[in-house]
Amino acid sequence: MSEQRIDRSTPVLRSLAEQTTEELGGRLSVLSRQKHDHMTLDRMLTELPGAPGDEEEALLNRICRLVFSHAFAEEAVLWPALRRALPDGEELTAQVEREHQEITELVATLEATGPGDPTRPELIARTVEVLRQDVRDEEDELLPRLQQEVDTGTLRRLGVTWELVRRTAPTRAHPIVARRPPGNVLAALPLSLIDRIRDGLDRTSRRLGPSARRALQSSSQGLGRVARRVEQSWLLRRGERSDTHVPREWRPR
Ligand SMILES: [Fe+2]
Ligand SMILES: [Fe+2]
Repeated sequence: MSEQRIDRSTPVLRSLAEQTTEELGGRLSVLSRQKHDHMTLDRMLTELPGAPGDEEEALLNRICRLVFSHAFAEEAVLWPALRRALPDGEELTAQVEREHQEITELVATLEATGPGDPTRPELIARTVEVLRQDVRDEEDELLPRLQQEVDTGTLRRLGVTWELVRRTAPTRAHPIVARRPPGNVLAALPLSLIDRIRDGLDRTSRRLGPSARRALQSSSQGLGRVARRVEQSWLLRRGERSDTHVPREWRPR
């Protein structure tokens, strides 16, 4: 019988999912904050398949508002720290940036399709699949690797900065903006402002009668067109890796 060899030179990584808040560095740690958001996302993703029309739209909305600001803060604060801390940080973060890019493109496509569009269920299923993959990559590999390299004080400082950026980040899909500094940092101010005004208009419109609702919705769509013009600036694409926007194997049939 052949003896199984275990490589003892590489310490075993423990997923964030298996660790307590104390082990993750306390409530302020970026690891606890990440896990908290991932658990909220998981609950919404579980409710999504088969949710009736209006509920599906509302859930998708909440998922997007959580996911885009969360990912923006990862790309602006956390992945640059990971690249500084790990020798293979460049490749590790490029992989999750490609996942984030695919999610952004899927949501942009979903926004362009109507509720009755036949490709919608497939688009939603793929979005859920990539979101779950992204969480597993972060909780099982990237973030435990960061945990091995930095002390608890650094995890807490990163947690506070990440949270500040997350609370002021863009909340919508911006598929052509760079996923790395300086492009994404330059995009933050104009696109956050536009996205958050749109979020307010959309929230208010849901409480109003049909004609007032239509007026607010058309203002929100007008701001969406302004955002697309802002995205075109070459400054907002600076810093991007050429292989982040890769052609997808998957396309709706
Ligand atoms: Fe995350
Ligand atoms: Fe992510």
